[in-house]
Amino acid sequence: MKDKINALSEEIEQFKAENKDELESFRLKYLSKKGEINNLFAEFKNVPKEERKELGKLINDLKNKAQEKFDSMKASLEEAEETQSEYHDLTLPVNQEEIGARHPISIVRNEINDVFARIGFTISEGPEIENDWHNFTALNFPEEHPARDMQDTFFVEQNPDLALRTHTSSVQVRVMENNKPPIRIVAPGRVFRNEAISARAHCIFHQIEGLYVDKNVSFVDLKQTLYYFAREFFGEQTKIRFRPSYFPFTEPSAEMDVSCNICGGKGCNVCKYTGWLEIMGCGMVDPNVLDNCGIDSSEYSGFAFGMGIERIAMLKYQINDLRLYFENDVRFLKQFKSAL
Ligand code: PHE
Repeated sequence: MKDKINALSEEIEQFKAENKDELESFRLKYLSKKGEINNLFAEFKNVPKEERKELGKLINDLKNKAQEKFDSMKASLEEAEETQSEYHDLTLPVNQEEIGARHPISIVRNEINDVFARIGFTISEGPEIENDWHNFTALNFPEEHPARDMQDTFFVEQNPDLALRTHTSSVQVRVMENNKPPIRIVAPGRVFRNEAISARAHCIFHQIEGLYVDKNVSFVDLKQTLYYFAREFFGEQTKIRFRPSYFPFTEPSAEMDVSCNICGGKGCNVCKYTGWLEIMGCGMVDPNVLDNCGIDSSEYSGFAFGMGIERIAMLKYQINDLRLYFENDVRFLKQFKSAL
């Protein structure tokens, strides 16, 4: 029996497991229930008493040796596997994380903010749920104005009225109530109107409004400021023109057009062959509005303007359907990655 133990001990020492299968065959051969070492324990029953002590120790040592050998082979196989998978195939491309892109509305909003920041305008924000005073009354909206109708405005509560703001002009009111002139702000933000969704309209959209109030502000200042904006945003060669218009809160009021940046004014389907693109409403702040907000209209005057960011972005990127902004289709959104 001693010879057998020695032979097994030798075998175990020499054994090399190159892979998991070989490791498993080692375990079956030596350590399993029907393995060689257990067989020795079975034979041990027939060993004469005098030899038992010595043989028992030898078999036990052999068992420990086999177990240790098994553990160390297992550990080194696992280690090899780990380093192997770490450097599995060095020619594979790197596992790249997708980097998100800014939404075109955010890109354009930031650009517009930047243009006005360069000439001293700061950014103001206000609540999206407004009361009647800030959204309508202070802005000179007559009692029977259609915007005050349920059909046009989303009311959250009535009597007293709370509604989703229909424009960011409400921010102008808040700023004038809380600050003394000179005031130079732009107010970007989400606005809400009860409109059917189509390629040209949506019930949620974004505006940027501007407000300038000081002594001796005239239409000349309005024109020059907006001319600066048009050239910075659409390019040096851009021309502007004003058409008379109406807003309750400005007097006189105008719509401003810029020369079409696609055809350079010659006429194309973007400008509908007029050479001009309408981009914003503007005007001199109505003296009633100044007085409503606690600013003395005999001392101060101001101008205001407002534009839809969706429309400006449509012109900039030649996007022809407003719904694309809200659909979250990555094929659309990832095109703006370079503009991060
Ligand atoms: N508030 C106007 C609108 O929503 C835009 C505007 C702002 C016009 C400021 C003139 C002056 O259409």
